[in-house]
Amino acid sequence: AQSTRIAVTPGDGIGPEVVAEAVRCLETLRAKHGLDIEWTRFPWPSHAWHEEHGESMPADALAQLQKYDAILLGALGDPGPMDDPDRYLLPDSISLAPLLDMRKGFDQWVCERPARLLPGARQYLADERAKDIDMLVIRENSEGEYVSQGGRLRKGTPDEVATQMEVFTRKATDRIIRYGFEQARNRAADRVKEGRTRTFRTLDGRTCESQVCLVTKRNALRYWGDMYTEAFDEISKEYPDVATHHELVDAACMKFVQSPWAFDVVVASNLQGDILTDLAAVLSGGMGVAPSCNLNPTDPDMPSMFEPTHGSAPDIAGQGLADPTAMLFTAARMLEWLGRKDPAVAAAGKELFDAVAADLAENSGTRRGTHEIGSAICERLSQ
Ligand code: IPM
Ligand code: MN
Repeated sequence: AQSTRIAVTPGDGIGPEVVAEAVRCLETLRAKHGLDIEWTRFPWPSHAWHEEHGESMPADALAQLQKYDAILLGALGDPGPMDDPDRYLLPDSISLAPLLDMRKGFDQWVCERPARLLPGARQYLADERAKDIDMLVIRENSEGEYVSQGGRLRKGTPDEVATQMEVFTRKATDRIIRYGFEQARNRAADRVKEGRTRTFRTLDGRTCESQVCLVTKRNALRYWGDMYTEAFDEISKEYPDVATHHELVDAACMKFVQSPWAFDVVVASNLQGDILTDLAAVLSGGMGVAPSCNLNPTDPDMPSMFEPTHGSAPDIAGQGLADPTAMLFTAARMLEWLGRKDPAVAAAGKELFDAVAADLAENSGTRRGTHEIGSAICERLSQ
């Protein structure tokens, strides 16, 4: 069998720092279990590459990356020197577009962002029930508000008009909603195995072991809101064992803070999911611990991409201060995903998740640097 190949793209800012720790942990696992995995490092996409070549990545970047089974990405974005007054005015397209190009180019139509408040993670909500926060936000990752259609008319005049179109297709709607229901079932099954069942009530008073909450803004954005709702109602009939729920996105934000422990799987559009997942990240301990992945579950020839929810954090870059935990949880999810072909790789993913979670639990509140945390986890893995 062919070995599992990973493209490592460290990116900008703290990206290379946290990726270095992930690669060390992967190497430890590879050596320990004789895993058949290998990785190749790419200096792009990145701001440095852009400076040198005038583009964030080579023209054939996607073709090169497509040969890999997965992409492990640090973070992208570099707003320039801290003392440049125009730093936030620099075109974002310089270093963020590659991220969107990859999601689009490889049709990574699912963005999974779990938010579980693990022992040891910072608890922002005072309520004791925050310990039960355990949700999975599934963000539609291929279209919607991110289609990048529109333009600026009469640019630079007082009569300027900017348009930004949103496009929602029934096919993409159906697949993301169905994916949400499948994940709800999987999560319920996993909980049964771990002996920690949860119950959710349906509108007609039945109890279920899992739930999917659909988020829209259908009271104002009627067209896609209605299409999403109809698709959700139809598909939910195939999953009578999963409780359903619908929230408008503004109310969802309120409930994420008020009673986040009541959510299980949440399905949201591209932009609404983007916003909800920063909020969900804070609920589960902050950006330093929030993993993410961009998946193409349908086409085995397309690599999925694994990058934490956090950005390049230029304010703390280069100082060894960034918490690699989010990146390590993300790498664990990558191994689990790749493990669909190789059970030994999946087991290593579980082992990495457990090691990172144990490290978090034991070091609650201590101040440690990037490398120190990485070393502690590598050591745990070598035992
Ligand atoms: C994310 C980021 C990106 C997004 C940006 C960098 C384009 O915020 O991955 O959540 O909006 O998808
Ligand atoms: Mn975001």
